[in-house]
Amino acid sequence: MADSVRPRGNVFDDLVAARIGRRELLGGSLGAAALGFLNGCGVSPPAHGGPLLGFTSVPISRADAVAVPEGYTWQVVNAWGDPIMPGAPAFKSDASQSAAEQAMQSGMFHDGMHFFPLPKGSTSSTHGLIAINFEYTDDNLLSPDGMGSWSAEKVQKSKNAHGLGVYEVRLDGGRWLTVADSRYGRRITADTPFRIQGPAAGHAWMRTAEDPSGTRVRGTFQNCANGYTPWGTYLSCEENFTAYFVNDSGRIPRLQDRYGIPTTKDGWGFRWHEFDERFDAVRHPNESNRFGWVVEFDPYDPASEPVKHTAMGRIAHEGAALSIARDGRVVYYMGDDDYRSKFEHVYKFVSRRPSARGGWAENRDVLDDGTLYAARFNADGSGEWIELVQGRNGLTAERGFPSQAEVVIDARTAGDVVGATYMDRPEWLAVHPRTQEVYVTLSNNTARGKGKPLQRAEALGADGANPRAPNLMGHIVRWREAGGDAAATSFRWDVFLQAGEPTHEDPLKRGNVAGGLAFAQPDGCHIDARGVLWIQTDSSAQNMASGDWKLIGNNQMLAADPSTGEVRRFLSGPVGCEVTAVQLTPDLRTMFVNIQHPGEAPLPHPGRNDPARPTAISSWPDGAAGGRPRSATIAIRRRDGGIVGT
Ligand code: FEO
Ligand code: CA
Ligand code: CA
Repeated sequence: MADSVRPRGNVFDDLVAARIGRRELLGGSLGAAALGFLNGCGVSPPAHGGPLLGFTSVPISRADAVAVPEGYTWQVVNAWGDPIMPGAPAFKSDASQSAAEQAMQSGMFHDGMHFFPLPKGSTSSTHGLIAINFEYTDDNLLSPDGMGSWSAEKVQKSKNAHGLGVYEVRLDGGRWLTVADSRYGRRITADTPFRIQGPAAGHAWMRTAEDPSGTRVRGTFQNCANGYTPWGTYLSCEENFTAYFVNDSGRIPRLQDRYGIPTTKDGWGFRWHEFDERFDAVRHPNESNRFGWVVEFDPYDPASEPVKHTAMGRIAHEGAALSIARDGRVVYYMGDDDYRSKFEHVYKFVSRRPSARGGWAENRDVLDDGTLYAARFNADGSGEWIELVQGRNGLTAERGFPSQAEVVIDARTAGDVVGATYMDRPEWLAVHPRTQEVYVTLSNNTARGKGKPLQRAEALGADGANPRAPNLMGHIVRWREAGGDAAATSFRWDVFLQAGEPTHEDPLKRGNVAGGLAFAQPDGCHIDARGVLWIQTDSSAQNMASGDWKLIGNNQMLAADPSTGEVRRFLSGPVGCEVTAVQLTPDLRTMFVNIQHPGEAPLPHPGRNDPARPTAISSWPDGAAGGRPRSATIAIRRRDGGIVGT
């Protein structure tokens, strides 16, 4: 235990029991009350049905700046290269820090994150830890000469700029500071050892030359969204993990093909395979099976060994949104957002047993034993969770599933076999703290109605839950579980909104957003304790402010009222950025948001800058003197100290 104030037990139980009492906790009302408390520590919605949203929308913007509503202020808390670990050096604006120095600093592209109060077990809104994902890199900005020359040191630096981090933050005189030399400061990189747990651990498909046991793996990367657990740990989700592997042999194993391992010599251009043979998918065909998982670590214990949980399935995991079943079992909703194949499924994991009082030690195996489901959205508004369990629903040895290990490692094919719905790139999910309604963002699917999904013999057109073909602008679907129980196997769904540009000549691209706000590619999302649905956008740099997107401007963050459908624009980001992750302190008076990849280049995905002109597209947040754009966590507060969003 790293802190002087020891937790009294399970963070979840303690926080909730203090507020609603142990009897209620064990009864049917646990889920909604508990989640409301955890998400925002029990702040009540406005009394007498007052408006949920109380700010004036900011306009569309193409400025290289963050804009927030009148009456609000923002500041950078932590940017790429800022020191995280004790003894770490300051960022060098020409990016000349070494690989070893980068391993002690914030990684490059801030993505999902979670605020953990300090002391542990408290509801502090002025002091805490931010556990965060550093999704990927633009290696042309990572070194003074970019990728012009390439070396083992550059690969190492790239790997060290990926992964996860923990940094300590404190509110001091109205400003948030990253605490220097914090004992909690931690980096997890593409080389940090992980333990593999759950049904795939030790399976033949998980064994490699480096790890003949199939139970240990180095690293995590392409960590997109995230989650947290009732016992106070952080979850991070491996999304586009295939990007670093290359199989240019012309003979692609079925599993590599289904997951989209790149087949050209340069792959996605990360070039790790040139100096780390793990990423040569011809020589080491199983290494990629060890990625695409939900991972867990304890942000309060910098020495804790991180874990990969294979029972939750192997997909391009966008995030893991927590809910609690009536009987206390732990439930996670998860999307599979594959940039290449586009048509993938929505999943749910239900643990076999409820979480126990205590911390991670008492709950080590909760996420290793449970039932994985994939969702089918029927045209009549009903839906089913179909078990992905070996021996059921066609998941037989004859179909390639002799054990549960094959089911979880090849969870996509398992979803195909059971008839799960092919969705339009399911991204983040959010659970409403009172109703337990679940929202999923679907960012786009330009291939719907146009061609054959990789895994299908026939083209897929529009369907109820994916109503536009093609779907350029994205939409949000929501559902309620039968009986209000997160463990239910059926649900009712509807389309909450379709994003778009309301004056567009093509009705398919207009959307139906109440109030007529223009936005596209809903991606990050979160529902705060008052019930505000925060929506963040990720239009690509190729599209932004051009063509069908010409009136939409930079990526942005919106606030929606789930009961009325009203949407207001809360934030506009700098040029080329994606707005991602939103966390509120327990008092709802500080909002942390990540501005990811400002200055993304409009080149084929993933866009890379010109190292000779690193500020040509964006110089946010440091300005031209800063040398290069940097992803960053920002803190947003009301000037009068009020609750954010009211
Ligand atoms: Fe990391 Fe699907 O966005
Ligand atoms: Ca992203
Ligand atoms: Ca995303």
